[in-house]
Amino acid sequence: MSATVAFVGCGRITRAVVSGLVAAGGAPDSIRGVSRTGAGARALAGEFGVRAATTPAEAVDGADVVVLAVHPHEAPAALTTLAGVLTGGAPVLVSLVASCRTEAVAAALPGVAVVRAVPNVAVAARRGMTVLARGPGCPPEALAAARELFAPLGEVLTAEEDVMETVSALSGAGPALVARFAQALSRAGAGQGLPASTAEALAAHAVRGTGALLTAPGATPDAVVDCVASPAGMTEAALRTLDGAGLPRAVRQALDAAVALSLGRLLAGPGGPAGDAGPRTSVSAGTGE
Ligand SMILES: NC(=O)c1ccc[n+]([C@@H]2O[C@H](COP(=O)([O-])OP(=O)(O)OC[C@H]3O[C@@H](n4cnc5c(N)ncnc54)[C@H](OP(=O)(O)O)[C@@H]3O)[C@@H](O)[C@H]2O)c1
Repeated sequence: MSATVAFVGCGRITRAVVSGLVAAGGAPDSIRGVSRTGAGARALAGEFGVRAATTPAEAVDGADVVVLAVHPHEAPAALTTLAGVLTGGAPVLVSLVASCRTEAVAAALPGVAVVRAVPNVAVAARRGMTVLARGPGCPPEALAAARELFAPLGEVLTAEEDVMETVSALSGAGPALVARFAQALSRAGAGQGLPASTAEALAAHAVRGTGALLTAPGATPDAVVDCVASPAGMTEAALRTLDGAGLPRAVRQALDAAVALSLGRLLAGPGGPAGDAGPRTSVSAGTGE
């Protein structure tokens, strides 16, 4: 990473991104953080040696990329502040804010190139997935700068803005959903008499190994299931019970609930939908720009 990056908002996702950047060899002195109370920025500086700025103006001064990582209800205040300080050159603004369309960010920051990004916390282990969507009028160089920022942290795809709430629910929240499954698996193992720490390790490695299999070229979930489940065997019995208990339906309902929440609080741009994004186009995530 050769760019100077300023993080406005220094909570969980900023910590994950900075952790990955530093692990990838990013220079801590090229990273600044600023947060509302300063607590998040100081914690980031203490952990990674990056610079804790005391004001947004200090944080963004000379930055090539500004990453906005606050909650949706905090975004209007943060954007108003940024509009007052991003007055000189025009760094790229990468917004990680959930439920906040690029139109809304671009309208608040005239003249600034805006990219929306949905990373997940696996960026901390440099095994993340980050999905990017260009804002209105965003030049290709700005998208390239965002891609360059996240590329050392795992995979990077692009998508249309219209699918980003679904992307957030599936990919942004994905590690929590998978971790919840691992938790249930390990508790079930402990319920069968395994020591809790052994059950946790077995479940964690099942997730890690399965991730490697699923992301191999040409792999599919069905093919991985078929590799394990022999006819009338114990895996098949377990899968039949899982499906019968409603796992696919529960996962669908969980995703629907997350998307509905996100759409319900959507910050749209001027003239755009608020609270209802309208019909969404199909997922078009891909490496093309
Ligand atoms: N967590 C994830 O896995 C994930 C993944 C993708 C996207 N996101 C999105 O990223 C955003 C942040 O999530 P998070 O989990 O990192 O939140 P978080 O842990 O609660 O951190 C929020 C941070 O925002 C700061 N903040 C609030 N208002 C501010 C303002 N006006 N100016 C500067 N800083 C301000 C807080 O400052 P203080 O430290 O001073 O209180 C805190 O550092 C959300 O929109 C979330 O949906 C999260």
